[in-house]
Amino acid sequence: MDKFYVALNDLQNDDNVCKLKSFRQHRATTRFDHSRNVAVCSYKISKKLRLKVDESALARGAMLHDFFMYDTKSKEISAYKHGFKHAEIAMKNAMLLYSLSSVERNIIYSHMWPLNITHLPKSKEAALVCVADKYCAVKEFFGKV
Ligand SMILES: [Fe+2]
Ligand SMILES: [Fe+2]
Repeated sequence: MDKFYVALNDLQNDDNVCKLKSFRQHRATTRFDHSRNVAVCSYKISKKLRLKVDESALARGAMLHDFFMYDTKSKEISAYKHGFKHAEIAMKNAMLLYSLSSVERNIIYSHMWPLNITHLPKSKEAALVCVADKYCAVKEFFGKV
């Protein structure tokens, strides 16, 4: 099996990552499914463009890019704060539970670029997740995934 799918399966079966199944994201999708969609989409783009990537980091960074445990529609956090802060929150949450490489940390931290203009994607893997996140969000919003 590809390194990508080995790493993806590991996290898909992780109890903490499975908690993402309890939260909705982009209407009908769960945060877990969204994270998985972003991971698979990033991987497919890397294959299409024949990019040599760290497949394990790509899977792990993508699967953890929205690793936060609150309902975005709740009053717990304003939409503004969520937009600007959740990438950092997700990275910190993930760092508490997993040993992450610098590439994996940056994938999570930079996925909202250019909204978070100073959180630059610093690798091919981070750029792929950044693009795939937007693409999947639009598809999910219109029920196309
Ligand atoms: Fe996000
Ligand atoms: Fe996302």
